[in-house]
Amino acid sequence: MSISPKISVSAVSKHYDSVPILERVNLDVETGNFCTIVGASGCGKSTFLRLLLSQELPTRGTIELDGQVLPDEPTPNRGIVFQRYSTFPHLSVEENLILGDEFEQSRTLGRLFGNARNKSREKVQDTLQKIGLYEARNKYPSQLSGGMQQRLAIAQALLKEPEVLLLDEPFGALDPGIRQDMHELLLGLWEELSMTIFMVTHDIAEAFKLGTRLLVFDKIRHDPDEPSAFGATITYDLPLAEKHNQPPPDAHDLFGKPAK
Ligand SMILES: Nc1ncnc2c1ncn2[C@@H]1O[C@H](COP(=O)(O)OP(=O)(O)OP(=O)(O)O)[C@@H](O)[C@H]1O
Ligand SMILES: [Mg+2]
Repeated sequence: MSISPKISVSAVSKHYDSVPILERVNLDVETGNFCTIVGASGCGKSTFLRLLLSQELPTRGTIELDGQVLPDEPTPNRGIVFQRYSTFPHLSVEENLILGDEFEQSRTLGRLFGNARNKSREKVQDTLQKIGLYEARNKYPSQLSGGMQQRLAIAQALLKEPEVLLLDEPFGALDPGIRQDMHELLLGLWEELSMTIFMVTHDIAEAFKLGTRLLVFDKIRHDPDEPSAFGATITYDLPLAEKHNQPPPDAHDLFGKPAK
């Protein structure tokens, strides 16, 4: 019996104002995979995550989740940590999370009161424990370190208990030591919650260390007279069987070479 993929991307292209950004992207990802994504700046990595979230729709092609074409709007089964994250500065850590939960439920319930609000608070406190921010729950975002702010961003995404977690360079701004802590935290959450993860990073060592699969986005075709004539696609799709891999010495050769 073959297992159907969690995410199936078929012949997806994305154009902005008729400029091709992504071209004919094909990808099947099984449940529980941790896909790390690398590629040159501006090649469409964030766009690809926005397509997986349904924040953008493909110009052509389809994306399926569990065999169903994605709905046209974000749904709670997909969570994202954006490249640039902003919290509400006048709300504490805990209030930021409760507000996020209220937004999610408010489409059906309106603002949360009484039992619903207590339930939401319990869920928030549980998530704060998981992510190691419980002690800091009454602080304001400006009082948090960079690592703690990223924890808050991840907590916000986890609150919806997503099956698919999308991370857009979540640790780019963090010091190496704190990055290390965040790697351990993320790998722990990934195993505990059995999520399927897509994570964009500019750090090839991070991509090798965290992923079970490395996806490289690049252009196959170049027109020197018109650099925006063609979009990017997945040019390398490497299985990374072992955790805590080190990149091979020629890892940087991955960029700029088309797939075989
Ligand atoms: N809403 C939009 N309208 C028009 N063009 C857009 C829009 N969003 C992105 N683009 C363009 O699409 C291209 C890909 O952008 P994207 O943000 O996906 O790149 P990226 O690979 O994530 O880059 P980086 O590594 O710098 O984050 C860029 O040329 C960008 O200018
Ligand atoms: Mg980006």
